[in-house]
Amino acid sequence: MSVYNIYRMHKILVTGGAGFIGSNFVRYIYRNRPGWQIEVYDKLTYASDKSSLIGLEDRVSLTVADICDENSINEAVARNDLIVHFAAESHNDNSLASPWPFVNTNLVGTYRVLEAVRQYHKRLHHISTDEVYGDLSLNDPSKFKPDTPYNPSSPYSSTKAGSDLLVRAWIRSFDVQATISNCSNNYGPYQHVEKLIPRQITEIIEGRKPKIYGTGDNIRDWIHVEDHSSGVLTILDKGKIGETYLIGANGEKSNKEVVETILELMGKDSKDYELVNDRPGHDMRYAIDASKLNNELGWQPKFTDFKKGLQATIKWYEANRDWWLPQKNATEAKYKELGR
Ligand code: NAD
Ligand code: DAU
Repeated sequence: MSVYNIYRMHKILVTGGAGFIGSNFVRYIYRNRPGWQIEVYDKLTYASDKSSLIGLEDRVSLTVADICDENSINEAVARNDLIVHFAAESHNDNSLASPWPFVNTNLVGTYRVLEAVRQYHKRLHHISTDEVYGDLSLNDPSKFKPDTPYNPSSPYSSTKAGSDLLVRAWIRSFDVQATISNCSNNYGPYQHVEKLIPRQITEIIEGRKPKIYGTGDNIRDWIHVEDHSSGVLTILDKGKIGETYLIGANGEKSNKEVVETILELMGKDSKDYELVNDRPGHDMRYAIDASKLNNELGWQPKFTDFKKGLQATIKWYEANRDWWLPQKNATEAKYKELGR
């Protein structure tokens, strides 16, 4: 059995490490664990960008492969000590238009990762989402807790819920050494322009109006992506095998509030947005109770000023037009077809 010890040098495999959160985690580990070798394992789908890993080549390698490919994932797991599994199809709107890649990557892919860590006795951390719990109503005082029953709404969230259940079953049935985290909505640099915050920032940069689904009263619980990364490292360092931890930073905001703040920070009239077609089955509210991670593992978020974090994110998109522009037209063409 390979035992994870924070004081030892490690080889860490990061699936989905060329995506938004995975690449942030790779940069975070690169800075905070100078002795570690990092292997990114990524299929490089439309959602990835290997340029997010530039400058890290001395300790970060990239394997371009699919987690559903049994031989490749087995070999990659065998040559590492720790596996952090971010790879997934991640966008709800895409899952409504075309569910199969979600079933394949999120369920079959996670199954392949689990079989590999079982065979080679490696420590796994599985990355998941608060969406597995379904949604809360606007006037409900409660928040999601680790024992909240699963009740996912979309093809995306149901495949993530299924992947969590596979991990739980492999822990119980096969003694796989794994932990799970369910995090709320992330924001920050390198997020694909299909997601709410980058879409609206780049629409404004392009001289168009932000687009809010439905009434805009839906609430998401925002966390800076670097706080997600620090939460995951805390779980690797101190988490108890078999446990689920919720990662969140008390960042509840309605979509309208988020878009109005972006408009204001970009010097526009805060009401200058369009209300567009709603997302089918649109979850109303997410809210995370992270007290288990706070109290048992001593983790706290650092980026607690949402407006400041948003301002820095806007600056990043303004300064990195070359990074997002190649994806922008294709993304907007897809939204146009949906009337969103
Ligand atoms: P993303 O779409 O930006 O990145 C996903 C990455 O996985 C991409 O680099 C992609 O190429 C890779 N990938 C997809 N299918 C693959 C396959 N079959 N084999 C190998 N690589 C593959 O996603 P993200 O927003 O960075 O999310 C990462 C993880 O975090 C996901 O598991 C997601 O469910 C979870 N999560 C996301 C959020 C959020 O707000 N974005 C919140 C909580 C949890
Ligand atoms: O809660 C965690 C989840 O957060 C992650 O598991 C997902 O991977 C991630 O994509 C995100 O899911 P959401 O569906 O909440 O994120 P998205 O950015 O697509 O939308 C956020 C909210 O904004 C949601 O209520 C839909 C709305 N929206 C979205 C877009 C793209 C708009 O109003 N207008 C838009 O243009």
